[in-house]
Parts: sequence; structure tokens; C-alpha cells
Amino acid sequence: MKVAYVTTDHPAAEQDDEREIALTAWLGAGIEGSPVNWKDPHVDWSDFDAAVVRSPWDYILHRDEFVAWAHRVESATRLFNPARVIERNTDKTYLRTLGVPTVPTHWAEPGTDLPEWDEYVVKPAISAGARDTIRTADRTAAQSHAATLLAAGRTVMVQPYIPSVEQEGELSLLYFGGQFSHAVRRHPMLTGVAETADNRATLRDPDDDQFALAERVLAAVPETLLYARVDLVRMPDGEPVLIELELTEPYLFLREELAAPDLFAETLAEMLKG
Ligand SMILES: Nc1ncnc2c1ncn2[C@@H]1O[C@H](COP(=O)(O)OP(=O)(O)O)[C@@H](O)[C@H]1O
Ligand SMILES: [Mg+2]
Repeated sequence: MKVAYVTTDHPAAEQDDEREIALTAWLGAGIEGSPVNWKDPHVDWSDFDAAVVRSPWDYILHRDEFVAWAHRVESATRLFNPARVIERNTDKTYLRTLGVPTVPTHWAEPGTDLPEWDEYVVKPAISAGARDTIRTADRTAAQSHAATLLAAGRTVMVQPYIPSVEQEGELSLLYFGGQFSHAVRRHPMLTGVAETADNRATLRDPDDDQFALAERVLAAVPETLLYARVDLVRMPDGEPVLIELELTEPYLFLREELAAPDLFAETLAEMLKG
């Protein structure tokens, strides 16, 4: 089996430090993976048995092109996750339709006031890695960032800052083929403290209520998924809520769990048979 490990030639992909781990595990499952730049016009995607979207992390700047790319690739070979999943999942407006508790979100409209909150997070609906996202206690500053994004034609989400990301932390639950693999506690991104080797993600056992919510989130997705990452935070009253469902190009924290690379590879091999 030949599978394209979809990445990019943009420097953003230098953050992908799990490529070799994945490719090695794939080999163990009989899959010959090769890194391929999603934007390379010379690639014939039908040369591959499948394409697995991994680190095309500059797509944020070209989202429409990326979604069109996904549909095109899917007409030539099998794409994981499927193109319609990618189309839905690259715009956080999907959070409105899942029917599960999410971080409270005000969808900004031009010329309207923001709610009164202690601290704001203002983010575009199409983003990754907290790009163009700000945290501020100043309502005017939040309003102004929202207005700038809206003026650029972007959909804007305004949320209260959830302090638990700095204590208990954000929890990411990783699934392969719908089967739970592992979970990690994430370093908070909007604190001004950079992630280092000392504070990077650590393995965590989810609590029962977190498992239950993650299962509800995944049950709301009709398609079969090779990989899924469910990102949860706790509200001040303790309720777990969804902050992001990553079905497009999640970092999978493969280094954190010894068994994860093989589960990823075996799930892929199984799906290629189907
Ligand atoms: N409402 C919020 N409260 C606290 N931290 C937040 C909030 N929204 C985002 N963050 C921080 O910013 C990071 C990125 O935001 P997220 O919504 O996951 O978008 P993306 O990962 O696509 O950029 C989160 O992992 C979290 O650390
Ligand atoms: Mg995120």
C-alpha cells in the first residue's frame, strides 16, 4: 500500500515532529508512506492508495483552495478524513450545529456590542494554532479586534476567557477509527508563556464526564473517521465543554503514548482493506 502523508512546503510544517514516528509505524503495518506537499501541482494523487491529511498547516491562508483540493483528491484516491468532513471542520461554525455543550460563544456582528465579560478571547472561525486570536480584559480592545476581522470578511467568535486552561488545563482526547487511544493535558496558549520541553503536553486519564462528552461529540459525526481529537475545557462550575473538534489536521501527540503510533497505523491499514 502506498499512502501520501499530506504536509506542506511552508515552514509551518517544521512543527510536525511526529512525521517520522507515524511513517515508521505505518511501515510496520505494511504501508509505505511518503510526505507530499498538498500544493504540489505535479502530484498525481491516483498514484496513492490513500492520502492522509497530516500537517498542511498553511491551509489557513487558503482555506477555500484547500477544501477544493480535498474534493479533487477524493475523486482520485481515498482521503482521510473525507473531504466533506474537512469542508465542515475547517470552519468553527460547526460548533453551532453539533448539539453538545461548547465554550459559550458570541458570534460577532458588525456594529453590535459585545457581552459584558471579565476577559475576552476573540478568534476567527477559520484558524489554527491561535492565529489572529487575542485575549484581553478590555471590552473596547476586544470589540476593535472583532471589527478588524469582520472588516476583512471573516466570521468572528468572541468567548469568555476560561481560566481552567491554566489550572486543570485543556484536555485533548485522541481517537483512531472511533477507538479511544490516549488523552493529554495541553499547555495553555494565551498566557504569553511559550511551550517548552518542560511544559509540553502530558498524558492524562480523562474523567468519566469528559469521556462521556467526547463520546457524544463523536456520535454527532456521521462519517467514519481515521483520526479525531476532541479538545475539552472545564467551565468555572465544573461542566466540561467542547472548545474544538479537530478532524482535519490535528497534532496527534503520538510521542506521548507508546501504543498510539501502532494503533494509528493498524487503523489505517484496516480502513484501506475496507
Ligand atoms: N475561551 C478560551 N479561554 C481560554 N483559552 C482559550 C479560549 N479559546 C482559545 N483558548 C486558547 O487558545 C488555544 C487555541 O484556540 P482554539 O479555539 O483551540 O483554536 P485553534 O487551536 O484552532 O487556534 C486553545 O488551545 C487555548 O489554549
Ligand atoms: Mg485548538
